[in-house]
Amino acid sequence: MTEIVKTIEKIAIEIYEAIKTKDTGKVNSQNKSGDVQVKLDVISDEIVEKYLLKVSSVKEIMSEEKEKPVLKSGGKYLVAYDPLDGSSLIDVDLSVGSIFGIYEGGYSGSEIKAAVYVVYGPRVEMVVARDVVELFRLNEKTNEFEFIKELKLKNKGKVLAPGGTQAKWFDFHKKMIDSLFKEGYRLRYSGGMVPDLHQILLKEGGLFSYPATIDKKEGKLRKLFEVFPFAYVYKKAGGGAIDGYKDLLSLDCKDYHETTPCFFGSEYEIKKVLETYKDKKL
Ligand code: AHG
Ligand code: MN
Ligand code: MN
Repeated sequence: MTEIVKTIEKIAIEIYEAIKTKDTGKVNSQNKSGDVQVKLDVISDEIVEKYLLKVSSVKEIMSEEKEKPVLKSGGKYLVAYDPLDGSSLIDVDLSVGSIFGIYEGGYSGSEIKAAVYVVYGPRVEMVVARDVVELFRLNEKTNEFEFIKELKLKNKGKVLAPGGTQAKWFDFHKKMIDSLFKEGYRLRYSGGMVPDLHQILLKEGGLFSYPATIDKKEGKLRKLFEVFPFAYVYKKAGGGAIDGYKDLLSLDCKDYHETTPCFFGSEYEIKKVLETYKDKKL
């Protein structure tokens, strides 16, 4: 596992370099989820593949940008990753990220063994969740990631990151978000799940939601590359991660690119979501 985390550090440094220097334009293709790819999605995917396939403990890799996994010989870990999350924000110079889920045995919520994400913002930070959740920051003078602190969520936060197209929200979801704002929560939403979830984690609480909507009952965010890794991070930090009804890490995954509605937050807000959703049929 340490070998994988060390390799992600090298990957992060190389992707950050690409973000700073390469063209921000689109390519003429879509990935399996139907998203228009930008050149940096493809470049980042190639960087991750190049490094991870050299790691002896890795058995196979699977990416948001790939149709099926790439296998190698030896190793026991399956690494599923989103090489560049929030890539549509690149051209407006907002923060983006990379997300890695490290699985053993298969790709499901119960088989995730560790999660790592990197935020490329004004500074580059990496969060590693194993038994505990730890924050590291890139020192650009030495090119080393330095340990900053352990991260823990408090029982309740002050900010909300409510995703999804509001015109398509279910009424009960809208009422829940409105009532939280009425309690005094403030809006903090960039449209990149890495910086949005990073903010809530660093501010020690709040709620990020990407719900089921009238037109998309299965939500938008992908289980293997986005949802399970962040569910692992939030649960290890003492918070919760649910699909509205159940723990996200109790879900299986039938298709590599399967999506699910998702809520990540501290205990108080997650309880509110459970109370709101418990008798609602989508
Ligand atoms: P990606 O760039 O990897 O396709 O993912 C973007 C995700 C996530 O970062 C964000 O929370 C969500 O898409 C926003 O989606 P909408 O802009 O469609 O609401
Ligand atoms: Mn993504
Ligand atoms: Mn992506």
